[in-house]
Amino acid sequence: MKKALVIAIDGPAAAGKGTLARRLAAALDLPYLDTGLLYRAVGRRMVDAGLDPATHPADEQARRIMLADLERDDLRVPEIDRAASLVAAQKAVRAILVDTQRNFAVARGGVLDGRDIGTVIFPDATVKLFITASAEARARRRWEQMAPDPDVPDRAARIAEVAAQLQARDDADASRAVAPLRAADDAVWIDTDDMTADEVLDEALRIVRRRTEDLKTG
Ligand code: CDP
Repeated sequence: MKKALVIAIDGPAAAGKGTLARRLAAALDLPYLDTGLLYRAVGRRMVDAGLDPATHPADEQARRIMLADLERDDLRVPEIDRAASLVAAQKAVRAILVDTQRNFAVARGGVLDGRDIGTVIFPDATVKLFITASAEARARRRWEQMAPDPDVPDRAARIAEVAAQLQARDDADASRAVAPLRAADDAVWIDTDDMTADEVLDEALRIVRRRTEDLKTG
């Protein structure tokens, strides 16, 4: 049987993984899973239950997660950025979510973005991309995503605040003992600092084509 095409996209917060993953999946007609939403949904359940994810095990909440939870519109908020990163550092939570992620791509392959897709979830993914951008570019993009009032007087200070929050989360994600944020040895890096979303997509499509051609000619 032909092996399903799995594309693993990892990288730090707000580097452009989600935008690329969504567009790549559409271009290649593959299912797309934003795995960050799984950890966000667990973090959300903890916060809603009044449990502190820094001190309380989240495995019970993780077991209750279904794909429908990812549709909630209150997952991408600053409170949940932190809660997600805290539950994501718990070994039991990660173990519970492994099968959800692997099963997602079983039938038709898929594009998955996160922190450990190329290293832990799909170590034999067809293509592994590691998406980066400078701290400044990531903070500016995340700020713009939050659709702020463009005339806010202390714009620079607010963006600096976002940068500090992203940095704190990246440090936590990269230094945790279990499945830390890191590029797989065989990942192709794309630094998106000076690239438009279209350029990043074109580059990723080139990498995927090259890889699938190589596999064909083997
Ligand atoms: O969108 P953004 O890059 O800000 O974050 P996200 O992808 O939604 O992930 C939220 C948090 O979930 C991260 O800070 C990680 O702690 C965790 N995460 C993870 O540990 N492993 C993944 N595969 C995806 C996310």
